[in-house]
Amino acid sequence: MSDEANEIHRLGVLISGRGSNMLALARAVREGEIREAQIVVVVSDRANAPGLKLAAEQGIETLVIERRASSREEHEREIIAALRARHVDLVCLAGYMRLLSPVFIEAYRWRTLNIHPSLLPSFPGLDAQRQALEHGVKWTGCTVHFVDETLDGGPIIEQRVVPVLDDDTVETLSARILAQEHKAYPAAVARVLRGDFQLIGRRVLLKSR
Ligand code: GAR
Repeated sequence: MSDEANEIHRLGVLISGRGSNMLALARAVREGEIREAQIVVVVSDRANAPGLKLAAEQGIETLVIERRASSREEHEREIIAALRARHVDLVCLAGYMRLLSPVFIEAYRWRTLNIHPSLLPSFPGLDAQRQALEHGVKWTGCTVHFVDETLDGGPIIEQRVVPVLDDDTVETLSARILAQEHKAYPAAVARVLRGDFQLIGRRVLLKSR
């Protein structure tokens, strides 16, 4: 990310559902935790995603870009065109439930972040909270990472840890993780926009140390 003093970063958020992480990012922008930034568009691949209404209530432009009969790449090209038309320079996947192809990764390499509800590299893919519960781990959490061609495998920016309690259900565990997601994602976005990191191999290290 550029660190020019008075540049306003233009964020695009991709969702498929509830949109609570999108809302956490919007709040962080509003409250100044994410500085010099604006969420310029929220794109959903599902017309009935509840997050669309939440975004509109925040005064954010919303777009529905469904895949319909198009190929994955054609669908992504449509999304990329919409993002570029709005000069989006950072893309945040927030409960976007599709695997991105190299077409998208190339277009926004090092400029696409994702949040995942486990301590990666444990439990990538779907139902991460259930996977953690069924595996019997005592601690889990969430991860914000750069998106690359691997499934939930890009360099890790931020992680938060939560305990797994004996009487947890998928729902109670998911809620405990989600509360941390809402803190981890704004922190990671703010840091990336500040340019306060260096990438050494797979390691995202603080620059300001
Ligand atoms: C969040 O728990 C997010 O980490 C997860 O989907 C949920 C979306 O909630 N994402 C994934 O599992 C991606 N692999 P939200 O729509 O309320 O932000």
